[in-house]
Amino acid sequence: MNGFWQVIFNCIFSIGFVLGFNQIGTDRSESTESLREVVSFTVQKNNWGQTNSGKEIYEQYCLMCHQPAGNGIMGVTPPLSDTEYVLGDKERLVKLILNGSSEGLTIKGVTYSTPMPGFDSLSDQEIANVATYIRTSFGNTADSVTEMEVAQFRTENQQ
Ligand code: HEC
Repeated sequence: MNGFWQVIFNCIFSIGFVLGFNQIGTDRSESTESLREVVSFTVQKNNWGQTNSGKEIYEQYCLMCHQPAGNGIMGVTPPLSDTEYVLGDKERLVKLILNGSSEGLTIKGVTYSTPMPGFDSLSDQEIANVATYIRTSFGNTADSVTEMEVAQFRTENQQ
């Protein structure tokens, strides 16, 4: 075989190999499982690095659902501006961020059926940062949440 055909053959062989390899474990449960691993890896990875600011955490973990201006997505994810959950009891807010929610909350008269994932793998300081960020953004003006408060709520949450 001359060089040209050798290259073509190698290309076809590698494409076939990649396609064949991808067939392994393509049933839905396995791909969902690996997606979950990627997500939890991304969340955990955060703990090995430096502490991120509330804005950074919001942009990385919350923005896709609650949107850049905290308006949510109509009928799918709730807004974060001027809601009882964001402005009210800090303990309830922190526990909601730690645990996520699939309760089907009614916010400003709309009931949501999409579940929100929990962010238990973020550090106390990062949960405090993001909680403070949402309480002071999107027109909200509530006081901040401290690392110590989060540590206390997290301990209670685990009991
Ligand atoms: C996958 C989309 C999704 C992501 C990501 C997400 N949320 Fe949510 N969030 C929701 C949904 C849906 C609800 C309503 C849950 C329910 O009805 O039980 C909700 C509810 C809330 C609430 C209470 C309701 C309100 O509007 O005041 C707060 C506060 C909140 N989320 C903050 C956050 C923060 C902070 C983050 C990032 C750390 C985050 N969310 C990430 C979808 C998401």
